[in-house]
Amino acid sequence: MFSYEEYRAFINEHLTDCIPAVGDEAGVLRDAMEYSLQVGGKRLRPVLLLASCDWAGGDLVQALPYALSLEYIHTYSLIHDDLPAMDNDDLRRGKPTNHKVYGEDMAILAGDGLLNTAAEVMTGEVLLHCNDQGTVIRHARAAHEIMSRAGIRGMIGGQTADVRGEYAEATPELVSFIEDHKTADLITAPVRAGLILAGADEEVLEAFTEYAHNIGVAFQVLDDILDFEGDAELIGKNVGKDQDLGKCNYVCVHGMEAAKNELHRLTSGAKASIAKFGSSASFFNELADKLEIRKY
Ligand code: IPE
Ligand code: IPE
Ligand code: MG
Ligand code: MG
Ligand code: MG
Repeated sequence: MFSYEEYRAFINEHLTDCIPAVGDEAGVLRDAMEYSLQVGGKRLRPVLLLASCDWAGGDLVQALPYALSLEYIHTYSLIHDDLPAMDNDDLRRGKPTNHKVYGEDMAILAGDGLLNTAAEVMTGEVLLHCNDQGTVIRHARAAHEIMSRAGIRGMIGGQTADVRGEYAEATPELVSFIEDHKTADLITAPVRAGLILAGADEEVLEAFTEYAHNIGVAFQVLDDILDFEGDAELIGKNVGKDQDLGKCNYVCVHGMEAAKNELHRLTSGAKASIAKFGSSASFFNELADKLEIRKY
């Protein structure tokens, strides 16, 4: 196993390797896609994919295209999330949002381009292994895991409930649906995909799915907390937006104290889910603790 920073450096080194070359006609599209990718980001999702695959004895070189695809999908979700028709944000990863630099038309297409590239990269990987039945099944399962959790029953479904959700009508169930899908699904997908690529068994998958769901919901609860009391300079995005937009976020609905208690409960729950693996899973235990106290 490597450290978070080492996995992150590996991702950053290869970040745009899987984006196809385009001619001058679409050059600006590629610039817009690369802008949002390169401008910063914690790379949590691709790091989780590499670390899970590595932990279960898989091959990091084979996992890399799936890790990059996850970051492409996550970055597309951010570009679209920031559009005027959605959250209307002008700051992301410490820099102007994609549509502020390239215009709304190009920001929509850059998001489309990143999503489609992810599907193209992963189906290409599946094809590459079509002569080896065991490997091709693992790759196809990993690709399906990622696309379905990013899809209309996953992240896109959660975003739909988020943009349509009115604070006045918020229920705990609605907030929970939003947090499960808009965020936790894209954090569960890399953990499961990494383990599937490595050929992990069902018992391991089940335990780590529970871990990932817990850190995924915790991640959004803290994002909601930071929207109230975070430092815009550190987070690299504007704060106070959720209340302005009347969002159904965890803090708006349950209050700050309950949000902090929930963050702690979920972090403990995540670690309890993988306790049976003892110190061999220390990377994941330490990550859950670090995510609980992150400031950005
Ligand atoms: C932001 O995700 C969107 C949420 C789901 C809260 P991150 O906080 O992981 O954003 P980056 O990738 O580090 O910019
Ligand atoms: C967005 O949630 C989650 C996505 C799927 C992009 P938010 O709207 O709370 O994310 P931020 O705060 O803008 O990063
Ligand atoms: Mg949003
Ligand atoms: Mg937003
Ligand atoms: Mg937010």
